[in-house]
Amino acid sequence: MRDAISILGAGDMARGIGTRLITTGTDITFYDRNLDKAKSLQQELQRGTTSNVRIESKRLGESLKGKIVILALPYEIARNLARQYTEQLKNKILVDITNPIDFKNFTLLTPRGSSAAEEIAKIVSRSTKVVKSFNTTFAGTLVEGNVAGKQIDVFIAGDDQGAKGVISRLVQDSGMRPLDVGPLENSRALEGMQLIHMALQDKLGTNWMSGIKILP
Ligand SMILES: NC(=O)c1ccc[n+]([C@@H]2O[C@H](COP(=O)([O-])OP(=O)(O)OC[C@H]3O[C@@H](n4cnc5c(N)ncnc54)[C@H](OP(=O)(O)O)[C@@H]3O)[C@@H](O)[C@H]2O)c1
Repeated sequence: MRDAISILGAGDMARGIGTRLITTGTDITFYDRNLDKAKSLQQELQRGTTSNVRIESKRLGESLKGKIVILALPYEIARNLARQYTEQLKNKILVDITNPIDFKNFTLLTPRGSSAAEEIAKIVSRSTKVVKSFNTTFAGTLVEGNVAGKQIDVFIAGDDQGAKGVISRLVQDSGMRPLDVGPLENSRALEGMQLIHMALQDKLGTNWMSGIKILP
């Protein structure tokens, strides 16, 4: 029996990650400020699966389910929610997937020498294990389950080896390749890499369906 997962947000990344994770038989609850939006994603994924998973929907602010919580919202909102849910997040794994980008000038919103994941870790309790992951995987590729026919690489940074192991197993069991890239501090590099990846979309014409992959 797997730990249930709460996904805060019901947008593109919630759909992408949800699509992959339900293939592992993991129960998922989607949270959105608009309950109808969470319900609609719940129903969409329920229709698309033959597996016996329980998919639920709740309004943001309602109590969290399971030991793993994924922040699938814009960076500033994710920070606000980390603050709002601090008590409930104690002893859970908190997965930060955000790219803290100022779209006006394509720069990072985080202070120099930090990252979204580290800023979020400063807000929550020390018992909350913050893991950076999925920030380099575009939502459409997660729905597809591959990038141009190749297995998706999912980079994972964090200071708690056990928490990284849990997320790595989920990634592996949903058909992707987990790559542990070291401590949470390395989120700076992951967020920087993805800034470049996003900035290149127009130039390459890849239409947000490319991926960052380590090839032999
Ligand atoms: N899209 C990608 O390919 C991709 C890839 C890697 C990482 N990411 C990161 O993943 C995160 C989510 O991106 P996304 O593409 O899934 O975005 P999205 O489709 O726009 O969904 C954003 C979610 O955040 C919620 N939200 C937005 N503003 C809010 C507010 N003020 N209060 C409460 N909830 C709010 C939205 O709720 P409503 O629907 O109610 O507005 C929605 O559930 C971002 O941090 C992004 O940087 C995205």
